[in-house]
Amino acid sequence: MFGDASMIRSAAKNPATTPVLTEILKQAVIKKREQVLDLLKDAAEKFPSITFANSFGAEDMVLTDIIMREKLSIEIFSLDTGRLPAETYTLMAEVERTYDSKLKVYFPQHEVVENYVQTKGINAFYESIDLRKACCHMRKVEPLKRALNGKQAWITGMRAEQASTRANLPVQEFDEGNQLEKFNPLSDWTEQEVWAYISLHEVPYNKLHDAFYPSIGCAPCTRSVAMGEDVRAGRWWWEDPTNKECGLHVKK
Ligand code: ADX
Ligand code: SF4
Repeated sequence: MFGDASMIRSAAKNPATTPVLTEILKQAVIKKREQVLDLLKDAAEKFPSITFANSFGAEDMVLTDIIMREKLSIEIFSLDTGRLPAETYTLMAEVERTYDSKLKVYFPQHEVVENYVQTKGINAFYESIDLRKACCHMRKVEPLKRALNGKQAWITGMRAEQASTRANLPVQEFDEGNQLEKFNPLSDWTEQEVWAYISLHEVPYNKLHDAFYPSIGCAPCTRSVAMGEDVRAGRWWWEDPTNKECGLHVKK
């Protein structure tokens, strides 16, 4: 059940990460970048205490690049669950070097993790949806609450196309659960546009994407996907697709 499909395709490179940069695609990305920049500037002006949740996935690297290059007044933070793949830490260090800036990282509360591991087991998240959700809660949701504490708004890199649970994702919404404004500036971007941006601007990215990992979370809960499979098919692949969210983005 938990075999890693990347073994089979290890020699091939995911063609999605190097799209053919046609003139139409370039123009679409230039236009969308301007729209995102306007949105971000406007959001930072209306909500001075605004923060961007950066998972270092491809979409989040687009937003990181715009925020850093344009020196926008937007804080960036990440949640380090303690179970991230080695490639994500490599990228984090590359981001520090590229943008000459140190990262703001939130970690889980160590007593809670120690207790979970001691009572449930080191990989207990495979045993039931409840145990999986409890792990996501202590490693992601609780640290997110701390990261958002005192903020007026937050930004994510989610796209509508990514999952059935995100199909109607608005660019701006009120986040009832966290009681603050939420922006999803890349909501209408396609996967191809994300990769065209990364390629055009030489943005650093997680090398797991080249190995058919379109969506990257924690190492034990992420695997590669087959060509044509849903971009989130490799996340919690043993669960029902209509229910695959870790709790960071649930509606109240
Ligand atoms: S998840 O909810 O299934 O984990 P996904 O990986 O698609 O989400 O990421 C969606 C958005 O949630 C990202 O664009 C980012 O804004 C935020 N996010 C997810 N994981 C993290 C993380 N570890 N640190 C900061 N933000 C995150
Ligand atoms: Fe735990 Fe997996 Fe959720 Fe990461 S994705 S917090 S390892 S259950």
